[in-house]
Amino acid sequence: MSIRAIDSAGLDLDKVEEALARDMTFPARWYSDPEIYAFELEHVFKKSWQYAGPVQLLAEHGDCIVCHAGTVPIVVTRDADGGLRGFVNVCRHRAFPVVTENCNRKLLQCRYHAWTYNLDGSLHKAPRSERETEFDPADFCLLPVAVEAWNECVFVNPDPDAAPLLEAYPEFEPLALERGLDFSGYKYHGRNTYEIPANWKVWVENASECYHCPTVHTHSFSDAFVDDADVYEYVDGERILGQFTVYNERAKRYPGKPRDESVQFRYTYLWPVTTLVQDDYVAFPGTIVPTGPESCVFVADMFTHPDYDQQTLDERLQMWNATLEEDQEVVLLQQPGLRSQMVPNGRLMPASESAISRFHRMVFDAFSNAQNGD
Ligand code: FES
Ligand SMILES: [Fe+2]
Repeated sequence: MSIRAIDSAGLDLDKVEEALARDMTFPARWYSDPEIYAFELEHVFKKSWQYAGPVQLLAEHGDCIVCHAGTVPIVVTRDADGGLRGFVNVCRHRAFPVVTENCNRKLLQCRYHAWTYNLDGSLHKAPRSERETEFDPADFCLLPVAVEAWNECVFVNPDPDAAPLLEAYPEFEPLALERGLDFSGYKYHGRNTYEIPANWKVWVENASECYHCPTVHTHSFSDAFVDDADVYEYVDGERILGQFTVYNERAKRYPGKPRDESVQFRYTYLWPVTTLVQDDYVAFPGTIVPTGPESCVFVADMFTHPDYDQQTLDERLQMWNATLEEDQEVVLLQQPGLRSQMVPNGRLMPASESAISRFHRMVFDAFSNAQNGD
């Protein structure tokens, strides 16, 4: 979207910046406006790293996983050389998805008219292409995207020329080392999918503060972990946010592997939509897939620590699921308030919501960089 389009959307960035400086939120309109949403798809989601799925599903040559980065359908493959490859999952013939579900294939065959692609994205065969004049298969390879693995996670970026993941987030590796962000060895359990009836930024904001934990998560998260403002810790970086706390004394003590008291609760957010959650029992990398100006899907890949029995792990998975469902309920009731635009800007509580201020800055920077043509 050009400067003109930003202007025609009526975005007065100076006014927004002035509101943010006063600890006010974005204008309510930013959470439901189709033009702003279109802008974000173009300038945020098409240019950012996003969590795609577990590396464990790409162990073998020919393994494929499907995912979305924003509205871009993507397929990631393990190619013949053992490398990870990522492609826009859109057939070069007439846009059908080349792969419709996670699978293992020697060739990727589009189901519509049976064009086949190699695992490196090159077009293998287009039926009846010999009847065509000037049809060169080399012109119709799958479009590449950037793909990388970190820990148990595969990340994708629709921009094939994107800076590498750890360069894009220079604070990530130091934080991961310092805080022991590492769930290698946890076993992939399965995917939880939550339909979120709210703008994607509402879901990020909800996950960026535990101010609501004592009211919303009394019998879930806050039963398991300490949500006290004196203990609960926020780390606000440039394009990365962290939250850390300890187990609640009243939380059930599980037999089995002794707790590593340094592990406890760790949450990392990577701009714009990746979240990594880890405790001793369960870890879940996740991402938000926007589906409209007022809806998105939160995808969470659940991993479990192999040293615990199934009942313990089920209880922990249930606690996390309850926490996420409670958040889902909150934003369902919040979104109509934003849609009404009757309260033009909310008032943040920076002592408890500093991470939201930081997130707003990340969004704002994406807008102002686009306006400046960066
Ligand atoms: S759309 Fe893929 S073969 Fe026709
Ligand atoms: Fe929550």
